[in-house]
Amino acid sequence: MTPANMPASPAPDLPLEDELGDVLEKAMRRAGMDDQALALRSGVARAKILDAIDYRPELDAAELQRLAAALGLNEVGFSALANGRYPRPVIDGLPFWVRPLRMPHGIGVVNAYLVAEAEGVPGLLFDTGTDIAALERAMQPTRAGIRAVFLTHAETEHAGGLCDVVAHFGRPSAFVPVGADTPCGTPAGEGETMTVGRLEVTVFSTPGHSPAHNCYRVGMPSVPAGRALLVSGDLVFAGSAGGGYFCHRQLGTHLRRVLGAVPPDTVVAPGHGPLTTVENELRYNPFLG
Ligand SMILES: [Fe+2]
Repeated sequence: MTPANMPASPAPDLPLEDELGDVLEKAMRRAGMDDQALALRSGVARAKILDAIDYRPELDAAELQRLAAALGLNEVGFSALANGRYPRPVIDGLPFWVRPLRMPHGIGVVNAYLVAEAEGVPGLLFDTGTDIAALERAMQPTRAGIRAVFLTHAETEHAGGLCDVVAHFGRPSAFVPVGADTPCGTPAGEGETMTVGRLEVTVFSTPGHSPAHNCYRVGMPSVPAGRALLVSGDLVFAGSAGGGYFCHRQLGTHLRRVLGAVPPDTVVAPGHGPLTTVENELRYNPFLG
């Protein structure tokens, strides 16, 4: 099938979701270490750690190495991130059409995704963004319609427009994580598979960032050699992971489980930041140390 379904590479101007300071802070929270404990454990000056968290990193290679070791991080990816050289894989070869829908949220950007057998035909919507007005703006000029909606988690920035979307787009089927706090949608749990036309969606239940969180693998079984897509919500980002606000341990467990369960060439479509691949994150993601 045609690689023309996807851009040949990620938008070069789209920054990673997390900088070094964000990753450091998340990793400290995961390890239950404050700046003082990390300074003691790593031998890196506390002031330098605080500066790095405050987006003013002045850490040399040896200090980055010691911080990564103290926090159980992937040293290569952590250092690459610090040097502004985190690897960004080429994204192509999906046998279906994918359109990231990027919506401003606070000082950041949140992603939803429209996935269809081809451009211009009704497709699947993964997350609904901040609200229906922002979603409709992001979808322009697409007017093809939505056959089903899949929610990764019920936080406002990802699910703000869910009930409106269901009402507005001809009442498509809507699937939400089991236990999600939303009045719209049918709970969908681990291992469930939905077939919509030639697209097949398989559910991974991945609590950790929030108590009810799903990732979705999207494939096209009629093209067995085609790459798959993993809509990862706030489980994993290019170069980082979601915050373990519900449970750091569960987030880490599901991160390894899901990335290990799909082929390495699977394209990852995160809730924030650019597209990446499973292979790239298994090799470099700081949280897969
Ligand atoms: Fe989020």
